[in-house]
Amino acid sequence: MTRPRLLITRRIYPEALEALAGHFDITDNQANDTPTTKEGLMAAIGQADYLFCTVADKVDGDVIAAAPSLRMIATGAVGFNNIDAQACKARGIALSNTPDVLTETTADFGWALLMATARRVSESERYVRQGQWKGWAFDQFTGVDVHGATLGILGMGRIGGAIARRAAGFNMRVVYHNRSKAQQEYGAQYVDKQTLLAESDHLIIVVPYSQATHHLITAADLAQMKPSACLVNIARGGVVNDADLLNALQRGQIRAAGLDVFENEPALHAGFLALDNAVLTPHIASSSRATRGRMVMLAAENLLAHVQGRPLKTPVAL
Ligand code: GLV
Repeated sequence: MTRPRLLITRRIYPEALEALAGHFDITDNQANDTPTTKEGLMAAIGQADYLFCTVADKVDGDVIAAAPSLRMIATGAVGFNNIDAQACKARGIALSNTPDVLTETTADFGWALLMATARRVSESERYVRQGQWKGWAFDQFTGVDVHGATLGILGMGRIGGAIARRAAGFNMRVVYHNRSKAQQEYGAQYVDKQTLLAESDHLIIVVPYSQATHHLITAADLAQMKPSACLVNIARGGVVNDADLLNALQRGQIRAAGLDVFENEPALHAGFLALDNAVLTPHIASSSRATRGRMVMLAAENLLAHVQGRPLKTPVAL
């Protein structure tokens, strides 16, 4: 009996590959694990019945149109803005993502960026590595306090909630803004966007990217923030207008930013690289081995469920 054909765009963990192996005829990228291009994806997907993709694969309408047999896409990520969900819906292609399994790890990393940004960890480490440290001084790499400050969260979903919970240990006031007032508030106070911007000492952005959240933070929003404020983006590039943010950082309009995501990643505005008040990481918020393993396995379990006619574990409602 012929098995359904599965295209896996990037290297995945052996345990997931093993689980999938008996059920699919697999084409994968295990050997070199290179990022896909649109042309490469269109060429590779032609025969596929199933696609296992990542946050970095752009599965747009053209890619989906190039796959006439495609039945399901499993992305190993919670966000799926890189996939044309409408095109999936129109073709009856099922879609799954990986919510929940990455919530706590991603919240940890939001805090890592917040702390590194407020306390100038990357900048001062560069100074030490470059051999510039000649001795201790009072006014050396003075940052801003995290404890006792006001933490603002833009997007009080699962990850926003997990970030808010952690703030209790730092004795912080937590304010948040969401399109709808969230149910679980974790001691956080709902405020309008203007109040969130004006009152946050540290602002963490965690909203999913969509047309509605495109450039949710622009120059006008940054202008409402405190000059001492730090901004952390672990959501998606595109939620923040990066050119406006760069400008605000260069002018000292806000103090600093911790950025794990960028508008055209992996490309980013060169200006960010020259800034000492920006902590820059390569979209790794969910990257602990345990959590990345759970994400890959959940994507695999969704594929197996579909091929065996069972309900998907974590379907995206289309
Ligand atoms: C990562 O960005 C994800 O959406 O899982």
